[in-house]
Amino acid sequence: AQLNALAKDAGLLYFGTAVSPGDSNDAPYYRLENDIKNFGQYTPDNAQKWDALQPSRGSFSYGAADAIVNRALSNKMLMRCHTLVWYSQLPGWVSSGSWTKDTMTAVMQTHISNVMGHFKGKCYAWDVINEALEDDGSYRNNPFLKALGDSYFALSFKFAAAADATTKLYYNDYNLEYFPVKADGAVRIAKLVQAAGVPIHGVGLQAHMTVGRTPSRANLTWTLNKYTALGLDVAYTELDVRIKPLPSNSSSLQAQAKEYEAIVGSCLDVPRCVGITVWGFGDSHSWIPSTFPGAGDSNLYDKNSKPKPAFSSVSALL
Ligand code: XIL
Repeated sequence: AQLNALAKDAGLLYFGTAVSPGDSNDAPYYRLENDIKNFGQYTPDNAQKWDALQPSRGSFSYGAADAIVNRALSNKMLMRCHTLVWYSQLPGWVSSGSWTKDTMTAVMQTHISNVMGHFKGKCYAWDVINEALEDDGSYRNNPFLKALGDSYFALSFKFAAAADATTKLYYNDYNLEYFPVKADGAVRIAKLVQAAGVPIHGVGLQAHMTVGRTPSRANLTWTLNKYTALGLDVAYTELDVRIKPLPSNSSSLQAQAKEYEAIVGSCLDVPRCVGITVWGFGDSHSWIPSTFPGAGDSNLYDKNSKPKPAFSSVSALL
């Protein structure tokens, strides 16, 4: 059973994964990663973030990201490109600079137009703004909000649309699945952009989930429909379902399988849910253990790249 082939037969555009330059050091993992029947879409884990692409002002470095993008395109995979305007993994010159409305506008325009211009025509989608919300639905404080107030939302999408008219422009965030007030915050942002007459095409739900807390398939579908009601596409962009406590056991692995199934099922239930991206697919290639101590085993394959119950449930459903 190969996930991308099954997902396409089920009506999705792709089933994809995050990838990083180090993946090639693990041969079995890398073989799965490059099998277009298993993964039809890549997102660079870190290689297209601001600190990677423009570490100092005006000097852009594209080598690592180009390698990933070129590998995807030569294998006829789609690229989700990630990400332009985000508070995290910003280089110090941006995060600790003191910016006025005008100087921040120039900094954003330069970054967006240079980066999107470089990858023009190669990205199926771009995460234009990432994680602009707190869990209570308020706007997260960041250098962009500080300089520009809520006008930075439409401005980011305006610069993005001008830089590459061939790509889908997304707002992307986490916990939209869990917190209705946060999900409504993303509705507010999308409406602000639309009201400014600027294109926005989709909302990405990161779906960094926790076993035992994942909403039901019906509730997830309800959340996805909040965005499609605005005329937008939706996608699960960074899916993983972490287990705590470790070690996992057969009952937590079965629960995880059911929760993966609910998430994938909700995407199948919504015609404008275009695809699903897992944030890595093997338990030894995961950001979770170092970010959420005590949690892990969040992926579809185990540490030896062998399929887990979650892989079986997802492939059976697709
Ligand atoms: C994570 C990467 O996987 C880690 O390697 C890095 O240390 C931190 O960022 N939301 C996002 C992703 O949008 O970019 C994050 O990726 C995970 C949470």
